[in-house]
Amino acid sequence: MEQNGSVLIVDDEEGLRFGLKVFLSRNGFSVRESGTLSEAKDLMQSIFFDVAILDIRLKNKESGLDLIRTIRDQNPNAVILIITGYAELDTAIDALRKGANDYLQKPLEKERVLDSIRKNRELSLLRRENRQLKEELKKGNNEGKIIVDSFVMKEILRTADQVKNLAPNILISGESGTGKEVLARYIHETGNRSENNFVALNSAALSSNLLLSELFGHRKGAFTGAVEDKAGKFELAHKGTFFLDEVGDMSLGIQAKFLRVLEEKSFEPLGGNNRIKIDTHIIAATNHDIPSLIKKGLFREDLFFRLNVIHFNLPPLRERKEDIGNLSNNFIKMYSRQYRKSVDPLGENEIQILKEYSWPGNIRELKNLINRIVILTDQEQICSEQIRRFLGCSPEEIESPIPTKTTFHVAQSGTLAERLNPVIEEYEKKILIQALEKNRFNRTRTAEELGITRKTIGRKLHSYNL
Ligand SMILES: Nc1ncnc2c1ncn2[C@@H]1O[C@H](COP(=O)(O)OP(=O)(O)OP(=O)(O)O)[C@@H](O)[C@H]1O
Ligand SMILES: [Mg+2]
Repeated sequence: MEQNGSVLIVDDEEGLRFGLKVFLSRNGFSVRESGTLSEAKDLMQSIFFDVAILDIRLKNKESGLDLIRTIRDQNPNAVILIITGYAELDTAIDALRKGANDYLQKPLEKERVLDSIRKNRELSLLRRENRQLKEELKKGNNEGKIIVDSFVMKEILRTADQVKNLAPNILISGESGTGKEVLARYIHETGNRSENNFVALNSAALSSNLLLSELFGHRKGAFTGAVEDKAGKFELAHKGTFFLDEVGDMSLGIQAKFLRVLEEKSFEPLGGNNRIKIDTHIIAATNHDIPSLIKKGLFREDLFFRLNVIHFNLPPLRERKEDIGNLSNNFIKMYSRQYRKSVDPLGENEIQILKEYSWPGNIRELKNLINRIVILTDQEQICSEQIRRFLGCSPEEIESPIPTKTTFHVAQSGTLAERLNPVIEEYEKKILIQALEKNRFNRTRTAEELGITRKTIGRKLHSYNL
């Protein structure tokens, strides 16, 4: 059976420990148990736990609460659940303050234990990703950092700074690659919700049914295949920010459901019968012109007004050329570090050449171009001639970024899938970039050429962080 992780149960009631152990083992966890604090501490010396379930009242006036700190120190991402007696709300609140993730009342409902483990593990994974992103930013690794020089972008950031802590619904529009997601992340990271999750979902990449279950989550048995409870993205973004990408691609049916969430600030999981309240900053993005979708009857006008409390329209790169110099040099710095090369910032002449180009794929295209130049150059200083060569030719004419021989590094250990997947992904990513560049970032034409759907392109761009 799949390994779900290791669980420590600390409770002085042997029967309860045993029942829970059998149940969780059946659900794929490896479980250790103890009746006292000192025994639990001994176990922790040798085993790293992903989940701890602690009884508040143990024998000899001991309390599981005293273990919270030690467990957190050992594993900051551990899920800590507290077992309380009936009507011990004060103690439960105290436990949450001390760092527990959830509390469970006696008599224990086993399914509820499992739900809580699953939900909190997903949340802690997301928190870890968010933390990692922040650390990268702090370390000066500029991936994800927003760079603006042009007046129009500075004004957009100024407005974003003014409103971000008020969390109004925001709609960001702009051509593909203009930085809609980067702006949404900026709002989250620099606002007062940054301690909580930034959860992104791309509506164009999913079928309607999948999108519904991703948004709202589902209860076990809600439909064929719903074998367990699953928390929706809205729930995961509680107190944080929910970024709904490509909102213009949502079907009218889902638009109606989404509107209801915005109006009522609550939602109902599929197959569930209670509404869950949410406090989430909603930011939606689109590269469609929503008013013209409304005219065609493809987008609900009431949803547009709900979302459009604050509207940022990101201009294409060709209309804000002042941004090009700094963006390019930041990308050079980033890729030089990544490939351990030393490449100097561009000079005035080289930047001027970049400014004369029209950038149909916007900043994404500029970033990919710099990526390619840094990979392929063997000089420290990029000259005008090189830039012209890389810009003027279609990607096939320049040395192909797709190696003809396999130069990918295949891991030496792991299952076949673990060893091959990263290589396949790397290869796929390169083919995708090449095809996009060739088709001047027109997704429909790229999709036709590659024999996949436009949706798949959207999903892949998103998953490869391109
Ligand atoms: N102002 C900026 N500073 C630095 N990097 C940026 C900026 N704007 C965009 N980028 C980079 O360009 C790429 C595309 O940005 P992003 O994904 O935010 O665009 P998008 O508008 O959401 O595109 P799409 O509509 O295709 O989803 C990303 O790799 C991002 O890091
Ligand atoms: Mg995007």
